[in-house]
Order: sequence, then C-alpha cells, then structure tokens
Amino acid sequence: MTRRELIDQFFSFYTDRGHAVIAQASLVPVADTSVLFTTAGMHPLIPYLLGDTHPDGTRLVNVQRSLRTTDIEGIGDATHGTLFEMLGHWSLGDYWKREAIEWSYRFVTEVLGFSKERIAVTIFEGDEAKGIGLDAEAKTIWESIGVTRIVPLGADNFWGPVHAAGPCGPTTEIFVYLGDGEPSSDSLPGGPKDREWVEIWNNVFMEYDKTADGTFVPLKQKNIDTGVGLERVLMTVNGQSSIYETDPYQPLVAAISSAELAHADRDVRIIADHIKAAVFLIADGVLPSNKDRGYVLRRLIRRAVRASRAVGFNAWPLAVEAVVGAYGEDYAHLLEAQAEIERIITQEVEQFSSSLERAIRELHKQLTRLPNPDLERAAEIVFLAFQSHSLPLEMGYEVLRDEGIVHNQPAFEAALDRRLAKHREISGAGQEKKFGGHGLILDTGELKAGSEEEVAKVLRLHTATHLVQAGLRHVLGEHVQQKGSDITPERLRFDFTHPEKLTPEQIAAVEAWVNDVVARDLPMQFVELPLEEAQRSGALHFFGHKYPSRVKVYFVGESLETAVSKEFCGGPHVERTGIIGTVKITKEQSAAAGVRRIKAIVGE
Ligand code: SER
Repeated sequence: MTRRELIDQFFSFYTDRGHAVIAQASLVPVADTSVLFTTAGMHPLIPYLLGDTHPDGTRLVNVQRSLRTTDIEGIGDATHGTLFEMLGHWSLGDYWKREAIEWSYRFVTEVLGFSKERIAVTIFEGDEAKGIGLDAEAKTIWESIGVTRIVPLGADNFWGPVHAAGPCGPTTEIFVYLGDGEPSSDSLPGGPKDREWVEIWNNVFMEYDKTADGTFVPLKQKNIDTGVGLERVLMTVNGQSSIYETDPYQPLVAAISSAELAHADRDVRIIADHIKAAVFLIADGVLPSNKDRGYVLRRLIRRAVRASRAVGFNAWPLAVEAVVGAYGEDYAHLLEAQAEIERIITQEVEQFSSSLERAIRELHKQLTRLPNPDLERAAEIVFLAFQSHSLPLEMGYEVLRDEGIVHNQPAFEAALDRRLAKHREISGAGQEKKFGGHGLILDTGELKAGSEEEVAKVLRLHTATHLVQAGLRHVLGEHVQQKGSDITPERLRFDFTHPEKLTPEQIAAVEAWVNDVVARDLPMQFVELPLEEAQRSGALHFFGHKYPSRVKVYFVGESLETAVSKEFCGGPHVERTGIIGTVKITKEQSAAAGVRRIKAIVGE
C-alpha cells in the first residue's frame, strides 16, 4: 500500500460515513496558542472542540503534518518520526464511542486487512487523582466486537491537555502485532513483550476540559479525536521493518546512501528524519535561529550534519529534492519554496560544518593538554566548546564518548548539569531580562503567556507588524513577502524577501509611512470570509498554504476596500492604530540569502 492509497482509502471510508474532508494547518500553530508546533491534528481544531461551530459540520476527516520534538535523541528507531503525517477523523459533539470504535475496527480489519487475532487494544484504567474511573463503556464495546486482547492502562491512555489546561479525555488505542503468525497468549502491549506491538491508532474520547485549577469538568460537547500514524500504518500493512522503508521515505533514503540496507542505518535514518522535518519547517516559514522554533530547526540541521559525517553524505540539495518530490503533490508550498529551502539548508550546513570542525579540533586540543580528564573536567571541556564554538552539548558528549573518555552518560550529564547551573548563576540576571521572566511570544496571532501588561504590549507590536509589512511593500515594492515573524514584549521581528540591504533612506521612509498610519488613528478590524473571497480581496497570505475554507482577514482602515493593510490573521490586535505609539526600526540585517530581517520597537 502506498501513502497515496492509504490517504484515499481513509478519506473515502470516512466520507462514506458523512465526514467532510478539511484542509490541514501549518506547523506553526495559529489556533492553539500554547504550543510551538502543531503536534497533532487537534491543535487547529481546539476552538471547535470547545464548542464553536465548524463551517464544514460536525464530522471531519483530514491528514495533518505534525512535528514532535520531545524525542529527538530517540530518532533512528523503527517507528518514531519528528515530522509525520497524522490521519484524523473528528466528531464534534456528533457520534460517540460505539461508532468511533466500530469504524476503527472495520478500517483496521477490512481495509488494512489485519486479522482480529493480530490486534490488541488498550483502554483507560481510570485515575483517582483525576476523579475519572475505568472506561467500562469502551471495554464493553470492544468485547462485543470480539476483540480479546483488551489492556487497561493509566497515563498512556489519557490524552491531553497539551498544555496545563484544555480539552482532554480517555483514549483507546489500537496496536498491531509485528511478529509472524499469531502472538502468543502472554504477548500484550504494555507487558514484557510490548516490543512485539506497535500502536497505529488513537481514539480520544474528548469529553473533559482541564481547567487552570486542575479539575476536570465535562466539555460542552463530547468529541471524538482520532489520530492515526500514517507512516506506521504503511509500515505494518506492508510488513516493512521500519517507517524508512515506506514509499515516501524511499527516494530520500536512496539520496542519502546507496548502501544495501541503508534504511536500517541509524545515521541515515537521522539524516532522513531531520532533513524531512527541516524541509517542512522552512516551507512553513521557520528560519534557523537561536530561539524557539528557529532553534529546533537549527538543531535538526546540525544533528543531521553530525550524522552525515558518519556516512559520508554531503548532497543536501538532493535530499531536499527527494522530500519535495515525495510530498509536493499534496504540499504545493514545498514545491514553491524548494530553491529557497535548498539555499537555507545548504547555508546552515556549511556554516555549521566549518564551526564544527573548529570546535572538534579545539576539543581535541584540550584533550591533548589534559588526557583522561575526570568527569567535572570533561564537562568543563564540553561546556567551553559549546560556549565558545557553539558545539552542541550532545555532540561534545559524543566526541568524548567516541574517544573512550566518558563511559557513563547519566553521570556525565549530571556533571554537565552542575556546570550549566554554575553558568546560570553567574549570568542569571541577564537571562531573566532577556526572556521577560516568562517566555511570552506572540507570533502572527499567537499568544502564549504573560502578564496583562505584556499582553497589551505584544498586541501593539502585533498590529505594528502588519503596518511594517504594508510599509515595506509601499516603499520597496510588492516582491516583499513575509518569511517569519516573532514578537516578544520588547520588540517585533520581521523577516521578508528582499535582495539587498535597506538604505537609511528606505528605512526612514518605511517608518514615516507606518507612523503616518499610527497618527491617523485608523480602526483595526476583521471580517471572516470564504477563502476565495478573502484571496480576491488582495489580503496578504502565504502563497500555496492550505487555509481552512473560511478565514479571518484583519484590515486597517474604515473598510476592506479602502484598507491600508489587510492580511489573513488569527489576531488578536489593538482596536485602533493610535494605541500603538511611535514605531521605530532598530535593526536591519540579513536573515538568509534573499531574506532581510528587521527589528522594531513601539514607543509609549
Ligand atoms: N490527539 C491525539 C493524538 O495526538 C489523537 O489525534 O494522538
């Protein structure tokens, strides 16, 4: 079965049962303000899980690109990917447990062809602390179908909330047997033979809202949130030994190594996984940096570089092309951004490779000076290489391990933690200031946390960001396209396409244009429009992105027709431009080839 066939079968199975196919969202979340990345299909749907009316109805089906970074170090095994696709179907207060379970069973057995004997399911065993008991209803339904391997589990079978609060609920997961023939009677997920099973399907019965005080209150409506790991299903249906053998990975693995069984090599897998994730991240507007999303991207590329040294791989554009080739049909924005993705990755790889060489040379020099350092000293050496040459700590550790100097990873990590704690003590005051003591970020409509005062400040900066973009297009031309945006309580940062450095005159002209709009105290308003109408209105948006069928357009002015700025955006914004105060551009620099970055602040 190919990826395409699986998606088609899933969509047709659920559309036959009244589900509407919905578009997927960017990896950079808009609706869920609590996370850096879209890690599951549920993030973009949170407002509807909480009770808003979805324009496409109460039964939805989709495939959603998702990115999970909790286990980057674990990448290289058979079944975990940083960037993966999740098939999902949703009931928004519509059908409930019986339909969800019975349909999933039918899909797994009739469409995917797994026999009942090769399936096991888990259910929620209950948790006193949550005040929620065993999911007896799910158990009864599975029993009535005739599935015999039903395993009650605790924490693993309660999904969410993603952050401290939000929609969540008990789950029932479907596992398939990886071995040949039938599993022995004592083989069960969660048991000693857990490794013989892989989870492919998660049915979440999303019926609770965890509130800020930690209690679980019933949601306004009972929802079904199902996540099905596309790559895992392909691998198990096809009897392959890892996700790296499935059709979307094949050209990528081949581009990395021509060795027989390349798909089984851990370094090849790491490169494949990380490059695939990097391609998708860059296409969704993330650029390598030292913070937040940009740092995750940077870390992925750097880890791929490190792994590439082990397998002698250096053809990065070919790897990018393989990812784009495998996914371009469904993700037109990858195709459009291909040249740029290649440029950004190549540039980052080159920069990092040379500093890596330097750092590793330096590290070896230290070791010649001080052979056989004790743990504290080894941690010091790794820390210094990190501080002065940006050598990632994990790589420093790996060098010492490969040299046979450090054998005990936990003990080394503890020593490194002590060293880092000492460093934080010294520079603690500076850190507090830099992160505002919060980690509050508003990224094109995304509000994470913070005091009221800070929220008010980022709203002003957010509206200012729209004006800056309009001002840049007014002064420099329509080729200016947003490439990234990041807002902290101190400043806005805006990356955009433009081939050369801005002159002082151009910067002054942009400021003058923006401050004129501020002085006119125009209203900031929004309309919700069908996607096509919104596009026709000339509102700025990311070309080639898949947007939902209705979008919000924020505009500055008395009407959409006369607006001086209009953009697809989730908000929130200030109500009038006068609230922003004077806008000042404080920095202009290069962000990547063909991409400029400006920072600006707003005055009181
Ligand atoms: N939200 C659940 C998950 O991520 C099901 O989609 O597994």
